Amino acid sequence: MTTDLPKELHVLFENNKQWAEQMLENNPNYFSRLVKQQTPKYLWIGCSDSRVPANQIIGLDPGEVFVHRNVANQVIHSDMNCLSVIQFAVDVLKVEHIIVCGHYGCGGVKAVLEESKNGLVDNWVNYIHDTKYHHREILSQCEDFDSRVDRLCELNVIEQVTNVCNTSVVRDAWERGQKLSVNGLVYGLHDGKLRDLNISLTSRENLEQKYQKAISS
Ligand code: CO
Repeated sequence: MTTDLPKELHVLFENNKQWAEQMLENNPNYFSRLVKQQTPKYLWIGCSDSRVPANQIIGLDPGEVFVHRNVANQVIHSDMNCLSVIQFAVDVLKVEHIIVCGHYGCGGVKAVLEESKNGLVDNWVNYIHDTKYHHREILSQCEDFDSRVDRLCELNVIEQVTNVCNTSVVRDAWERGQKLSVNGLVYGLHDGKLRDLNISLTSRENLEQKYQKAISS
């Protein structure tokens, strides 16, 4: 086979071949079943960070979780990419649970606290500046820089959960009685564990109270 692929990608091809064979060995119908449909119950909105792979962390196979990732797991009301993912997941795939998952030590969050310059991406993470300003009192109580980063990682997730709840897609789904939960989690790079940020919603009814409770816990 002639190929222009860089050498480093050859190993990926080799990995892929082995993986596909392994999957078939475990279940001969694996791909023929998947090709027909995907029926994921979950939408994962996480960080692009290479250390936070959605499927592996929650132990789900291909077909089981619909995934959107961007730098610092943000849900911006004018971001057509993320909004389209949410819309397709909720309206078409009918996922039952949306998970916003941040992670401790997030580079995007750290960059905001450091006010470091990284180019275009600074504009993307600028939204976290608002969260930082909004919760400056909470953040000022953190002992050191690392704990401030981690606290802002949590606060960022909580903010994004409320953003998800405020999208027209999720509001409409709840209004027509569709079963849908929105949840905020944070992942520890240091131990591989997920933590619940206690902001799970199945309607907009208690959004304000749950938000306040999650922020202050
Ligand atoms: Co990150």
